[in-house]
Amino acid sequence: MTTAADNIRERRPENAMHIHDISMQAATSARLYDHFAGGCEAYAIDRDLAARATAVAPWLSWSAHTAREYAHTAVSRILDDTDIRQFLDLGCGLPAADGRPLVELVSKTTQPGPGRSPQYRYVAVDHDPMVIAHVKCWAAETSGDAAVLLDITNANALLDTLQVFDGRPVAVLLHQVLEWIPDDKAVASLLAKIREWLPAGSALSIVHATADAQPEQTAQLVATLAAAGLGFRPRSREEIADLFDGFTHLAPGLSETYSWHSRRATLPKGYSSGYAGIAIKPADGPAGCSVDVV
Ligand SMILES: C[S@@+](CC[C@H](N)C(=O)[O-])C[C@H]1O[C@@H](n2cnc3c(N)ncnc32)[C@H](O)[C@@H]1O
Repeated sequence: MTTAADNIRERRPENAMHIHDISMQAATSARLYDHFAGGCEAYAIDRDLAARATAVAPWLSWSAHTAREYAHTAVSRILDDTDIRQFLDLGCGLPAADGRPLVELVSKTTQPGPGRSPQYRYVAVDHDPMVIAHVKCWAAETSGDAAVLLDITNANALLDTLQVFDGRPVAVLLHQVLEWIPDDKAVASLLAKIREWLPAGSALSIVHATADAQPEQTAQLVATLAAAGLGFRPRSREEIADLFDGFTHLAPGLSETYSWHSRRATLPKGYSSGYAGIAIKPADGPAGCSVDVV
């Protein structure tokens, strides 16, 4: 059977992973999510967990597709409504199964003219080596991109990564990643540092799972994932709103993820949706581009 590692070796030998970097003994959030979003990178251990998770939370595949659609909407909105051309995709995940990784959307929309340098920068960060190897394959086909293997709760290392940006506004994408960091203090501290560092005019786009609509099934989902060694922490609308502290929301504001898409304007009965929002750092906030490293 051809594995993801084989595919990468064929397309970009320099990005080939060492087999010991990839865990096939434990499910990962990246492969699980790829499976729900219609991808084919999941191993048996991920697919088994996906089946158990779907038995208690039948909306998971719908929710993954809805969130992926939101990601494209968010990037398009940022490109259309702002001058931002620098993107930092934290917990970027495996490229979408429909062949439209966000880097491709950004690069196509900001195509430079002949002989001009790229007008955008896209930096993808993830702590999963399999994800980073995949992203490097896509990123190598464009320029202005970087893929960084990093745990985003390591604030010092993350702030080092931010040095690649040039002082102009940046869009930080945190799509379906913060719920995989159960430590509330770590999430609050990460977001405080990001908000402080960002230059005025920067954007923060967050999609986050919640238990608000289906508290009982979501509690069973959390227990199912925990039994498989995956920490999962859905957060309430108020907790997610706090992550944008001091930023100004673009319309429609922090809303259920499905409601960003007019053709999915209603929540299917018995389903749960996360919340999604894009907000801009106002000009009167802290100056940005510097933050104390502790
Ligand atoms: C559910 S996937 C979402 C992927 C992508 N953002 C999307 O919306 O399609 C979560 C991703 O976050 C990554 N992740 C989880 N915790 C992380 C951490 N502490 N540091 C970096 N990446 C993390 C996982 O490896 C995974 O690729």
